[in-house]
Order: sequence, then structure tokens, then C-alpha cells
Amino acid sequence: MKIAVYPGSFDPITKGHIDILKNGAEIFDKVIIAVARNSEKNAFLTVEERVELIKKSVKDIENVEVDSFDGLTIEYAKKRNANVILRGLRAVSDFEYEMQLSQANSALSSDIKTIFMITKPKYNFISSSTIKEIYLNNGDISKFVPEPVYELLQNRK
Ligand code: COA
Repeated sequence: MKIAVYPGSFDPITKGHIDILKNGAEIFDKVIIAVARNSEKNAFLTVEERVELIKKSVKDIENVEVDSFDGLTIEYAKKRNANVILRGLRAVSDFEYEMQLSQANSALSSDIKTIFMITKPKYNFISSSTIKEIYLNNGDISKFVPEPVYELLQNRK
């Protein structure tokens, strides 16, 4: 059984993330999308809110599990018996950081490989920060986020 862990802060999850996740779910037997608890970034949503939103957003994809984790991604991947860490690449600017992350992970454990998938061009510019900025300035985020994220944020206003 090929298991992939798709880690990130997902604050909030976007349609770009869903795109990568769907592709991963077609290739691997199971994809575990996992929210990193100890991200250094200032949190917008709590980890519990993020997990809940992801669960609602991916409920139609059978072989996806939603979870959160503390500590190193590679240790979490090992604990979950994953073979692969799945990451999305949007632009060349993502490459250097992703290369470092992947090399650090492979130095920590060479058994688990990182696989990159390219995001669809229409999602290239999306990031969670872009979404937050549009939302906080009363712009329309409906095109960029799954319905459950849109609903939660609308109800918060
Ligand atoms: N579509 C849309 N946006 C995307 C995307 C996609 N396909 N892929 C990435 N992004 C966005 C994210 O929303 C995020 O936006 P933001 O910076 O505005 O929040 C940005 O691109 C960066 O995302 P990502 O590269 O996934 O970083 P992250 O902070 O979400 O996750 C971890 C990074 C959690 C995977 C990494 O820090 C980690 O593994 N931490 C655990 C500790 C560890 O093991 N460190 C490595 C060993 S040294």
C-alpha cells in the first residue's frame, strides 16, 4: 500500500491545495493531509478549525484522511507508515525552499521520498496569505477556496 503524507499549515486550505490533493489521491492508495501544529507562522485559524474545514472540503475523496501533527514531518510520516511526502510546486520561487526541505527530510530518513506535483496555472498565484489579505480587505475569495472555508469566513464577518 502506497501512503503519502501531504503536510502544510493550510491556514486556510485553498483550491490550489485541493488540486494537489486530488492528484495525489489518484496516484497513491491513501493520502494523509496533515496540518503542522508547530508552524512558525502567525495562525489565522486554530489547528482544529483547519482540520475541520479540510474534512468538510475533502469528504467526497474516499482515500484521503485528515490529521494534524507536532514535531518533524518526517517523524510523522514514519509513524504513519508513509512512503512519500507530497508537496505542491506553484512557481520557480517555491523550488529553492522545497529543495532544502526535501533534502533535510531525506538526510533525516532516506526511506521516505518527497514527490512534487505542479499546481494548475489558474492556482499559481494563490497562497493562504493572499486569501487572508483579500478576505481582510473585503474582497471576494469564493473563487479561491473550497465552499466550507468560504462559508466559515463569511459567517465570521
Ligand atoms: N496551492 C495554493 N497555495 C499553496 C500551495 C498550493 N498548491 N502549495 C503551497 N501553498 C501556499 C501555502 O498556502 C502557504 O501560504 P502562506 O505562506 O501564505 O501561508 C505557502 O504556499 C507555503 O506553503 P507550504 O510550503 O506548504 O508551507 P507551509 O508553511 O504550509 O508548510 C511545512 C511547511 C509545515 C510542511 C514544513 O514547515 C514542515 O515540514 N514543518 C514541520 C517541521 C519540519 O519537519 N521541518 C523540516 C525539517 S528541517
